[in-house]
Amino acid sequence: MSGPDGCGCAGKGCTEKTPEEIGRRAFLTRTIVALSAVITAALSTTGLGYFVSPAFQRRDEDWVDLGRAGDFKAGAPRLVEFTQRKRDAWVTSERRSAAWVVTSDGKTFTAFDPRCTHLGCPYRWDAGSSRFICPCHTAVFGPDGKVLSGPAPRPLDQYQTKLEGSRLAILPKAEQIT
Ligand code: FES
Repeated sequence: MSGPDGCGCAGKGCTEKTPEEIGRRAFLTRTIVALSAVITAALSTTGLGYFVSPAFQRRDEDWVDLGRAGDFKAGAPRLVEFTQRKRDAWVTSERRSAAWVVTSDGKTFTAFDPRCTHLGCPYRWDAGSSRFICPCHTAVFGPDGKVLSGPAPRPLDQYQTKLEGSRLAILPKAEQIT
């Protein structure tokens, strides 16, 4: 027998719910739980992406444009200054640097770190002898970066190069060539 408000008991203080009330309540509870789960998942994914993505981004911006490839003359190495932007997760810093660009045919290019491999002095190109000469302790390098004389322990360090259309770009992280 049903009570006055439709519940299964009679009299005052009856708290028993009707099947409709139980069904509605269960439905609302499940809906709220499901929505909470969806919102939590969305927030977690977005937040995780924000914190993790900078660490995994492959950085095209690491390559530095040095200008038109056609502007580099065969047999005439040229010192090119550039700004290197380094992004460390959320912080971007800038550093001025340079590269000696050498080409023997105007099609293939080599870019050298401008620091001597002995103790890091800046060397210069000597057009008369077609050699790089370091003024500090007289190390001499060929246009291919190989040591010709002096105390330098290894050839000039190189940057990776690539052509992007008609432009020359380098990856300003010098690699040792042994
Ligand atoms: S630093 Fe260049 S020869 Fe010593």
